[in-house]
Amino acid sequence: MRIVLFTGKGGVGKSTVAAGTAALAAARGRRTLVISTDAAHSLADAYGAAASGATHPGAEPTEVAPNLFLQQVDAQLRFEQSWADIQRYLLSVLDAAGMDPVAAEEMTVIPGAEEVLALLELRQHARSGRWDVVVVDCAPTAETLRLLALPEALGWYIERLLPIQRRLVKALRPVLNRAAGVPMPGDGVFDAITRLHAELDDVHELLSGPEASVRLVLTPEKVVLAEARRAFTSLCLFGYRVDGVIANRVFPTDDADPWRAAWVEAQRGVLAEVAQSFNGLPVHSSEYQPSEPVGVDALADLASTLYGDTDPLAVPEDEGPFRVTRSEDGGAVVHLALPFVSRSEVELARNGDELVMTVGSYRRLLTLPPGLARLRVAGARVDDGELRVRFAEPALEAR
Ligand SMILES: Nc1ncnc2c1ncn2[C@@H]1O[C@H](COP(=O)(O)OP(=O)(O)OP(=O)(O)O)[C@@H](O)[C@H]1O
Ligand SMILES: [Mg+2]
Repeated sequence: MRIVLFTGKGGVGKSTVAAGTAALAAARGRRTLVISTDAAHSLADAYGAAASGATHPGAEPTEVAPNLFLQQVDAQLRFEQSWADIQRYLLSVLDAAGMDPVAAEEMTVIPGAEEVLALLELRQHARSGRWDVVVVDCAPTAETLRLLALPEALGWYIERLLPIQRRLVKALRPVLNRAAGVPMPGDGVFDAITRLHAELDDVHELLSGPEASVRLVLTPEKVVLAEARRAFTSLCLFGYRVDGVIANRVFPTDDADPWRAAWVEAQRGVLAEVAQSFNGLPVHSSEYQPSEPVGVDALADLASTLYGDTDPLAVPEDEGPFRVTRSEDGGAVVHLALPFVSRSEVELARNGDELVMTVGSYRRLLTLPPGLARLRVAGARVDDGELRVRFAEPALEAR
């Protein structure tokens, strides 16, 4: 089962390319689901009449063509309410328990119901065995990053929260009262948090696994490229695999009048930068069509020219942005692809069995793989777009 996510700056053609890729996969006989995490839900519009009625919340996926199904996620009221309870509870406990400063800062990323619901829905479909391909049409970059950072970040809260909570409940139950300042959770909240934790863990495993990848959609414009480059860095930071770049709305070069010729020239410059920026990643391009590509066939055509002879669903062969190598002296190196950053832009901190990595406004709390937690950080550098954090035996230091 293959999962492909599309993200990029607002309006660049994410939904169009996602819808097209899904239509192409379906036309080639793969059972395909296309799902949107964006509240704007333009997928149904892109598919046109075939998808009308595909928007009501909680509904089964709608078949828009043979093998092609569409699901738009709507945050149901019920979920929104129970999420609001969980959210309030998480905040109050963390506050009452006097969490450490890192935690307090991270609190601000507790996400909204819609994002959580989209992830849970994605997981349910991915695990259902019903699909060969799940295509995800994401919201614009910043929201997508928030969404993709969520499973790990939330898992992190919950892992810290549950023990605190157990202790508190145990200690305080005899003298239980609200004056203690720590609200006692109802059983429902407790169960909901535990279940959510397990499910989000699973989402993270799915999305950072070998069969999932993200594609960056851009139009050949300077500001758009700048955002795509930042997104590339952040996606790597969170451990997601980017397996392609889509340059959409490229002006045709032939018979251009002076106005278009100027655009062609400007785009040529940016496209050259694109080719250099994402060194190694395939760049697929799609022309600016004379009209909006709407309808299953038009979208499949667009995707077919976009990918040409390459397989749009090929499983990426590289090992992804994150790996650990062990050295003979008992040490290890954590490698994380971090394109476009220099060492001074990466902040590193050690927090028990975690490595806290901050790049720009994004922070990841990486739980160290087994065996590394007892080692000390011996150094870190950024080389060729890769962060390398060296771990060594604590004993070496003493010698
Ligand atoms: N290659 C193309 N040629 C012509 N029009 C295009 C092309 N790609 C996309 N469009 C049109 O551009 C508009 C925006 O595309 P789309 O909705 O796919 O962007 P998006 O990135 O999903 O936007 P949003 O950020 O709002 O979700 C749509 O009207 C779409 O039909
Ligand atoms: Mg869209």
